Amino acid sequence: MDWQPLAEAALDARRRSYSPYSRFAVGAALLVGSGEIFTASNVENRSYGLTLCAERIAAASAVAGGHLDFVAIAVAAEGHPPARPCGMCLDTLAEFAPDLPVLLINTAGEHEELRLSDLLTQPFRFPVQ
Ligand code: THU
Repeated sequence: MDWQPLAEAALDARRRSYSPYSRFAVGAALLVGSGEIFTASNVENRSYGLTLCAERIAAASAVAGGHLDFVAIAVAAEGHPPARPCGMCLDTLAEFAPDLPVLLINTAGEHEELRLSDLLTQPFRFPVQ
């Protein structure tokens, strides 16, 4: 897996973060089967609960564009180690690719490669009847 284009796209998307309330900027770059990369940043709102995470915007953009075949995602945010995606984003991604390769990266270039299944070990599933 060549993470370079995804890492750069995530860091670039992070620069477009709208996060005046938390001042915590996040960027995401999601690669789909066609080779397209869907990017997004977090978008906050003065009504805080309306805030949209970067990963969920990227996932929704890909799906709305007709791409359900998620290949890999890079997420850029500060933190040592780089910040983990929230549970809502993990469940959103798990809907489409439970074992998705994930690269977490910060602006210092520190990075960590994981699987979605490492971050979300027991995703929600409808109970088998
Ligand atoms: N945020 C994301 O964009 N992705 C996550 O996985 C966790 C949190 C955003 C939401 C909010 O704008 C800021 O980070 C602080 O929570």
